[in-house]
Amino acid sequence: MEELVEQPSIRPSSSNESKNEAIVYEGQLERVFKGRRPRILSGMRPTGKLHIGHWAGALESWVGLQEVADNFFFIADYHALTTKLDSTDITQLSLEMMTDWIAFGIDPERSPIFRQSKVKQHTELFLILAMLITKARLERNPAVKDQVRDLGIGEQMMTYGHLGYPVLMAADILLYKGDLVPVGEDQVPHIEITREFARKFNEHYQAARGNVFTEPKAYITKYARLPGLDGRRMSKSLGNTISLSDSEDDTWNKMRKAVTDPAKVRKGDPGTPEICLVFTYHNKWNPDGVEEIRQGCSSGSLGCVDCKKKITEKLNEAFRPAREKRRELEARPEFILEVLNQGETKARTAAEETMSEVREAMKFG
Ligand code: TRP
Repeated sequence: MEELVEQPSIRPSSSNESKNEAIVYEGQLERVFKGRRPRILSGMRPTGKLHIGHWAGALESWVGLQEVADNFFFIADYHALTTKLDSTDITQLSLEMMTDWIAFGIDPERSPIFRQSKVKQHTELFLILAMLITKARLERNPAVKDQVRDLGIGEQMMTYGHLGYPVLMAADILLYKGDLVPVGEDQVPHIEITREFARKFNEHYQAARGNVFTEPKAYITKYARLPGLDGRRMSKSLGNTISLSDSEDDTWNKMRKAVTDPAKVRKGDPGTPEICLVFTYHNKWNPDGVEEIRQGCSSGSLGCVDCKKKITEKLNEAFRPAREKRRELEARPEFILEVLNQGETKARTAAEETMSEVREAMKFG
């Protein structure tokens, strides 16, 4: 068995996690796949316009992975029903989100983009997988418990759909035989369930060519959690985000109000950069200048306003071309629909190939 050693700078936490076979950390791809091009499948729930936390935690790595892997990226629109039953704006939110994907670097020629709801094989495999897992196993899943807690609903209001969230997610992944699934760390329990499904199915049903499914690994990136402007996790519902598509002025107006070290009241006061969320942003978007910021902040020579101006410049510089591209794409809604159409055709072909193996292995002639 290959040992997956964590990168200490990335994950200083407990050692048993580093041996978790279900996880690959950023920077380990070459070692794990040894030159083979992995198949990647990842998705996001359609939340509309994305924020810089989505970029740092997911989209940026998706964009980079296109160089070393074959990718499918999908919009988990059915999964969105677990957070909001009202689906009136689901199509709009999906289109907004994928406009960001494309503007910020997903190349639909290389990486098909599709909606879960447009590839019926997801629901078909979901039904079959549902037979292969016990209710007790699903109830033990910490990710579902967290989700229900985050939604602020009690166990009483938990639906069959919430409980089955990882079943649908496993279907999403297994259909495309993904080797690697870029997700946030909170999603690792779902990937573990997906691996169990692959093993269970393969044990029960053998196809002519052997195992139908591969066991995927979670792919965890360095900035999985970027703090929001108030220091809590960045989330649209908390109103503490900077959107990828915000104008340069809006970016400044939001950054201006970011919470900083409360002990640093005015320029001249020494601050503690390590506890400041703005410093986290410098780490991410101003790697060359971060040391200077650290010194200026701790000595007091740098004030918070100047520090925020600097990072705003860096963000705006980094995102300028993509924001420009986004404005162009907004003027071409027919292009976005065409991209979806093509992606959905490719996804259906891949998914149907897997489903015919599944049906054959199960003797559903
Ligand atoms: N659960 C993921 C999230 O909330 C979205 C998702 C659904 C997903 N199915 C997936 C991600 C399959 C990766 C692979 O962010």
